[in-house]
Amino acid sequence: MTFEQRTHTCGELRPEHDGASVVINGWINARRDFGGLIFLDIRDRYGITQAVILPDERPDVAERAKELRSEWVLWIRGTVRMRSNPNPKIPTGLVEILVEDFGVINEAILPPFEIVDDLQTNEELRLKYRFLDLRRPVLQKNFLIRNQLYQITHAFFAENNFVEVETPVLTKSTPEGARDFLVPSRNNKGQFYALPQSPQLFKQLLMVSGFDRYMQIVKCFRDEDLRADRQPEFTQIDVEMSFIQQSDILDLTERFIARVWREILGMHVETPFRRMTFAEAMETYGSDKPDIRYDMKIATITSVAATSAFTVFSEAVAAGGVCAVLKAEGCASFSRKQIDELTEHAKKYGAKGLPWLKVNGGEVTGSFLKAITEEERAAILTASGAQDGDLLLFAAGDYERSYLILGALRTEIARRTGILASLQGTYSFHWVTEFPLLEYSEEESRWIARHHPFTAPLVEDVPLLSSDPHGARALAHDLVINGYEAAGGSVRIHNMNVQQTMFDLLGFTREDAEAKFGFLLNALTYGAPPHGGIAFGFDRLVMLLAGTDNIRDVIAFPKTTSGLSLMDGCPTPVDDHQLVDLGIQTIRS
Ligand code: AMO
Repeated sequence: MTFEQRTHTCGELRPEHDGASVVINGWINARRDFGGLIFLDIRDRYGITQAVILPDERPDVAERAKELRSEWVLWIRGTVRMRSNPNPKIPTGLVEILVEDFGVINEAILPPFEIVDDLQTNEELRLKYRFLDLRRPVLQKNFLIRNQLYQITHAFFAENNFVEVETPVLTKSTPEGARDFLVPSRNNKGQFYALPQSPQLFKQLLMVSGFDRYMQIVKCFRDEDLRADRQPEFTQIDVEMSFIQQSDILDLTERFIARVWREILGMHVETPFRRMTFAEAMETYGSDKPDIRYDMKIATITSVAATSAFTVFSEAVAAGGVCAVLKAEGCASFSRKQIDELTEHAKKYGAKGLPWLKVNGGEVTGSFLKAITEEERAAILTASGAQDGDLLLFAAGDYERSYLILGALRTEIARRTGILASLQGTYSFHWVTEFPLLEYSEEESRWIARHHPFTAPLVEDVPLLSSDPHGARALAHDLVINGYEAAGGSVRIHNMNVQQTMFDLLGFTREDAEAKFGFLLNALTYGAPPHGGIAFGFDRLVMLLAGTDNIRDVIAFPKTTSGLSLMDGCPTPVDDHQLVDLGIQTIRS
């Protein structure tokens, strides 16, 4: 089929084109028929242009325009003229095209939703018709940001001497962390490849090979529970460097982030970023990735709680736990109902209840006031720094759980009181370092590496590996932006014996370690340089830059939180003969 090809895009025409003869191609965004005049708003990736048909002058054209519907694809030829009713909201709003002729390039059936930015429809329908959803300018904008980020990333790392190397997608399954997605091997029946959770081992091997500086924009796959900021397949900017200290990785990252924010958002980002330890992040903000754009801090009152007659506190401390208090500034006005809702929220994070105190008009009230002495009350108020009008919320028990409960309440209160909404468009960047090297997995009843088993301990904590491994801190670093973990990495173990000790600590038998990671241990015996790196969550960076809290808004064809692709319907069953080929029998319930 022939069509008149565009001379200009729908975002291009300006007053200087007044009088020019032009052709545009695009989709009908809207059609308004006023009898005497027919307006067509034509849309493409670049913008929207108004075209106008005068039935008096072009009766045949006007007649044909009657059948036009939204989302039909047209070519339009005409003359640019100044609009008598300019639309200052769009860049082309000062001009319009006076239509001489047009043609229908393709018809469209009625779309299931309007192609508008402020669409009010459920996300399932949008995902089913993702190709139409992606026509909406608000989503297209996100992908232009995403595209800019690809370009800046390649330019920045190339300028800094990094080499992009592709690592395999069919890899060995070494489950440590999330579950692997497995791929059956047809040639080796009963055996499986795994899709990489990250190229971690390959990038370390590339350092042993002497590449010195590696980067890759790479797809990673993790079969884990999904959330608003997590997808089963996602993209990392993966980075590894040799002969470096941890500070070199942090410096490079800060320069990269500052450049990204400058080039994409035109914002100046102050460097170096604040660095806080894991302990400080947990004990002050109740999170290992706190949003520090707002205050609302936590104080530890374990020593006051230890001797308190309020047994919820004292028993928790006697059992080796902590007691902490969150100061919700100005929230003393919260009703009983609101506190009950916060209690329910705290319970989702493992709280049994939510003790609280209010300071209101110089008077202290609260759920456990009668159980504590005057001195304890005074000590709590001093430690928390409570002022008139504040609400205090308490958690007592296991270290990490108690702080996480208060951290979750901190976020929830910031959301409910509108603090988060008021911070839209602002950014804070900081590092969290000195994570515990190991953490206990209830599920597996063993210690696992908090980051991954290749992360080095702090130099001064190396002796702890034999005496008190669980007190050892990792040379790991997470970059936190507005409460999101935007990147994570570490300095690696480059000594075979230390790596072997680490596997021992994690409960691998020598045979197990050899079977799973023998190739790495082997490589470490051939002169591995000191090395370390980081991986950025590419999608999360785009989310932050685009100002959305939904990762699906920045991935062209995302999965739902149950891992489904609603558009093509995957995952799906496969033909029996495909399974026979692979030597696989499935258990279908
Ligand atoms: P880590 O597991 O911390 O480190 O991942 C690095 C970054 O990737 C992003 N990310 C995700 N984004 C979307 N969906 C997911 N399911 C998801 N999981 C992780 C996060 C995170 O900070 N190999 C190490 C890096 C290293 O040590 O150099 C690694 O993968 O933004």
